[in-house]
Amino acid sequence: MTLPTELILTGPSPLRGRLRLPGDKGISHRALLFAAFAEGPSRLVGLADGDDVHRTRRALEHLGVRARPGPEGVVVHGAGARLREPDRVIECENSGTTIRMLAGLLAAQPFLTVLTGDASLSTRPMGRVVEPLRAMGAQIDGRDGGTRAPLSIRGGPLRGTRCELAAASGQVKTALALAGLQADGTTEVVEPRPSRDHTERMLGALGAPIEQVDDRTLRIRRGPVVAFELDVPGDPSSAAFFAVAATITPGSSIVLEHVSLNPGRLGFVDVLRRMGADLEVRPTAEQLGEPVGDLAVRAAPLAATTIVPEEAWIDELPALAVAAAFAEGVTDIRDAAELRVKESDRIGTLEQELAQLGVAVESRADGLTIRGGRPRAALLKSHGDHRIAMAAAVAAVACGGDTTIRGWRAVTSSYPGFAADLAHLTGGGGT
Ligand code: S3P
Repeated sequence: MTLPTELILTGPSPLRGRLRLPGDKGISHRALLFAAFAEGPSRLVGLADGDDVHRTRRALEHLGVRARPGPEGVVVHGAGARLREPDRVIECENSGTTIRMLAGLLAAQPFLTVLTGDASLSTRPMGRVVEPLRAMGAQIDGRDGGTRAPLSIRGGPLRGTRCELAAASGQVKTALALAGLQADGTTEVVEPRPSRDHTERMLGALGAPIEQVDDRTLRIRRGPVVAFELDVPGDPSSAAFFAVAATITPGSSIVLEHVSLNPGRLGFVDVLRRMGADLEVRPTAEQLGEPVGDLAVRAAPLAATTIVPEEAWIDELPALAVAAAFAEGVTDIRDAAELRVKESDRIGTLEQELAQLGVAVESRADGLTIRGGRPRAALLKSHGDHRIAMAAAVAAVACGGDTTIRGWRAVTSSYPGFAADLAHLTGGGGT
């Protein structure tokens, strides 16, 4: 899909109807990696179709795992724990999840792999995954003493270790779980606070030797993963953008179907409800330990609140910052310094883009203060960050007049079809 570099949206455009979202990005990466590690073919339906997940699939192909999309989804021919030395540098582009999780898988593989990424990924912290993998026995190097990509990994025999993480991270925890499944002895991952638990749920449902000791500690032993089938539930992080758009645009009423209702990922629902949103969660099924269901959202006036995010739903803050811009009163986002090291410095980029909309906003090292009001159509930029691009589009549908979003192609990382799905719900179109 070739996307325009600029998207122009005219608002206000109420959202109406039903939408099935692309598969959850985090679950999609994990499904590909666990299927590659499993013995035999796994079938994955509804994987996220963005560049990031595509990068993980391509990387696995370079490591000798057949994983081709077909009419029935992607069939991954798992190689057990036996991968092949790649004959080229593996390009992870914008995907932090790809580089960090792959590092864990490769830490036990007896060959050399070099992982690289784009300008944004090359600035993001890698020490958080490199250090514990080194402690388990892997030889890993990289720029700045192994704290930035490119990373070179020469894997080998690993020993289970107790890894106390300085920052909670679903990506690092998953990397260590993949390493732990290939290590002698017991690996323990201890986080300062809970992060996303898809890895525990999925591997647990597959009977792998992984045990949740408490909400911050995971224990892993060496063992296989069995091949599986998965219909990947829709991405709650993508749902958050439509939920905010429908809430702040009068006349809206939508249903988002087959979304992961993983409790850790629904922090944005609690925040929006606290602000006065009309949001209903309807569970329908379960997929590999993940509850799945529909989200029904109707427009409602919002009031300001204080937001202290958990790691598991920090990706939803750009959407929530737009909700705050349309709410009555002053919203504080606190204790969110991790936003500074995402695909862009999201504290800085949100401050700039909300200011463009005429919103009074102040940033601090670890958060933002947003004075809600009546944002007006403007010229906005994505800063190369998919979630900033989608946040800008959400503001655009609710504002009166034409908003232009420059750098629209950034959405390809997670959601290339976002503008088309938004147009489906607004009954109109962007150009
Ligand atoms: C993810 C965890 C989070 C999140 C990222 C995906 C995951 O990152 O921001 O988009 O799939 O586990 P960190 O692991 O850096 O916290």
